Amino acid sequence: MTPVLSADGASSAFSQRVLTGFGRQAASYELQARLQQGVAWRLGRLCRDLPLAAGPIADLGAGSGLLSRALLAHRPELVQAPPLQLDLCLELLARNPHAGPAPCPWDLNRGLPPSLSGAALLLSSFALQWLEDPAGELAHWSGRLAPGGWLALALPVAGSFDTWQAAARAAAVPCTALSLPRADTLIQAATSAGLELRHSQQLHFSRPDQGGLDTLRHLRQLGASASRQPPLAAGQLRRLLAHWPNAPLRWDVLLLVGRRPAAGGRPLKSGLPA
Ligand SMILES: C[S@@+](CC[C@H](N)C(=O)[O-])C[C@H]1O[C@@H](n2cnc3c(N)ncnc32)[C@H](O)[C@@H]1O
Repeated sequence: MTPVLSADGASSAFSQRVLTGFGRQAASYELQARLQQGVAWRLGRLCRDLPLAAGPIADLGAGSGLLSRALLAHRPELVQAPPLQLDLCLELLARNPHAGPAPCPWDLNRGLPPSLSGAALLLSSFALQWLEDPAGELAHWSGRLAPGGWLALALPVAGSFDTWQAAARAAAVPCTALSLPRADTLIQAATSAGLELRHSQQLHFSRPDQGGLDTLRHLRQLGASASRQPPLAAGQLRRLLAHWPNAPLRWDVLLLVGRRPAAGGRPLKSGLPA
């Protein structure tokens, strides 16, 4: 991985747009992030009983810190040494109670910093899908765990946003929704990198049908509106909204918890499907 970094650390034009989106809306992120908050809570709870080896703990794409707060609520013994908060977006890190007074932005497209070698626990929620190569980064994260170290991950996967895709097809305009990785590709990447899965589950969420305009506005206020496609022209947007079906926007969210086998340790008793 040798991306060209710009002055603020982002590695590609797309990452720049992701950064701009989240940076502009940092003040409203948590007001809009109900789904992210609920998923963070579930993931934190799944980490409640994990036996942690020695080694660093980090929240990857931590943003304002929802996931780390959920982890610490379930594991108060970690409050003295909270997870390292890695993110590219300084505006969100500035609102993160665990990011410290002078947070450094980190672009996860560059892999992980050397200080995270032999990690005891790597956590990430709603961030991996924004990276250039989600499956490749997942394999890289898995390889940075200590023997016996854990990865706990949540992200939206392919199958989400079908309402939006249907509207774009019907309107004959490009779909500017983020294209999301497939759950089976991610699971394969994690297991090929040597992870034993303890928990693997796909959850389905939907946002009540409030029409296309309201839905797109919600994503913008969340900061999550960056697209790999050029923006629609005004006429295309009107057509898209006119064809938006009367159906809720859906998210398929993959939750994974896995462990790098401990040297000479017994294999995990899998809790699948959990
Ligand atoms: C939807 S927010 C999720 C934040 C937090 N994990 C949560 O659950 O609320 C996505 C986060 O990923 C971060 N992100 C996106 N691309 C990134 C990159 N290349 N490097 C580091 N962080 C990135 C964004 O800045 C943002 O904080």
